[in-house]
Amino acid sequence: MKTAVFSTREYDRQFLDEANRKFKHELIYHAESLHRATATVAAGCPAVCAFVDDQLDGPTLAALATGGTRLIALRSAGFNNVDLASAEKLKMTVMRVPAYSPEAVAEHAVALMLALNRNIHHAYNRVREGNFDLSGLVGFNLAGKTVGIVGTGKIGTALAHIMKGFGCRLVGYDTYNNPACLALDMKYVDLPSLLAESDIVSLHCALTPETAHLINCKTIALMKRGSMLINTARGALIDTLAAIDALKTRDHLSYLGIDVYEEEGALFFTDRSSTIIQDDVFERLTTLPNVVITGHQAFLTREALTHIAETTLGNISDFQLGQQKSDNLVTAPASRPTKS
Ligand code: NAI
Repeated sequence: MKTAVFSTREYDRQFLDEANRKFKHELIYHAESLHRATATVAAGCPAVCAFVDDQLDGPTLAALATGGTRLIALRSAGFNNVDLASAEKLKMTVMRVPAYSPEAVAEHAVALMLALNRNIHHAYNRVREGNFDLSGLVGFNLAGKTVGIVGTGKIGTALAHIMKGFGCRLVGYDTYNNPACLALDMKYVDLPSLLAESDIVSLHCALTPETAHLINCKTIALMKRGSMLINTARGALIDTLAAIDALKTRDHLSYLGIDVYEEEGALFFTDRSSTIIQDDVFERLTTLPNVVITGHQAFLTREALTHIAETTLGNISDFQLGQQKSDNLVTAPASRPTKS
């Protein structure tokens, strides 16, 4: 099927081309992100393939529909960037990759924890400069600490397995008690209790109107003194200004590790090293020694990219045959079956 593929980088093309040997779709790559102004380049493509920071709002979807697009094939698990009600009105199908590698994201969350806790970002620079002084590099053992996992779905469960291996106590907060996490001795609690009990809080729930700014000045005040916050889910789960205020005093929040940022759409996935970054909130974050930031790369492993490419192209083939897998379909909340 003729497919316009937006926001592609060299690694996307490599893994999509490899997978497409089997599927044989006509893939038209665009480095640009998808938004209202770029939607017209997809005219004549029944399928559009999009990534996390593409803006699939009502006007963009309407422009795509006018150009003949009937399928949005997301190369991601999250779908907070799609106006599903508009897609439904326009009779467009939206498909995603529900679980391409929960371990890839969970392992990246652990990489952020260890980098922050053991001051790897500072140690790396010191050793390169011939400075072997250990002052200021004191960390803490993970064994015996309490890890709070907010959102105990696929990625949250993968993280629970890893942290159990470190000898951590697990607490979880979700709208649903996952048997796989209960089997790891996770204790489900409400959000205030999780924040009060946890030495490390890791966010793994989807971004929805209910979870937007879940971490704000009020909830940060409930966090255990000296705790660490990790976010590899979606940036807007955290009110960044509130986090900066808390990190400045280190009272309740002593460390922040993020792979996602609420205004990342204007920054991430592009080399901006020779431009002046205008986002002062982001720039303030980068000055804090107790913050480690990566640019939405938690998914970026060979295994995950292979799975994303194969599932995305498979979704396009299934749509062509009218045989969409229900797990991969994304529908507006009102049309969604309730979780048992
Ligand atoms: P999932 O759907 O398996 O799990 C999400 C969990 O959040 C579910 O158990 C759900 O019940 C829970 N949840 C929903 N609303 C909640 C609420 N109000 N409070 C607490 N929990 C709630 O999703 P998965 O695959 O584990 O992914 C989680 C998120 O990770 C995705 O939504 C996506 O935003 C993000 N992600 C980030 C990546 C990265 O590269 N940084 C890559 C892949 C996903």
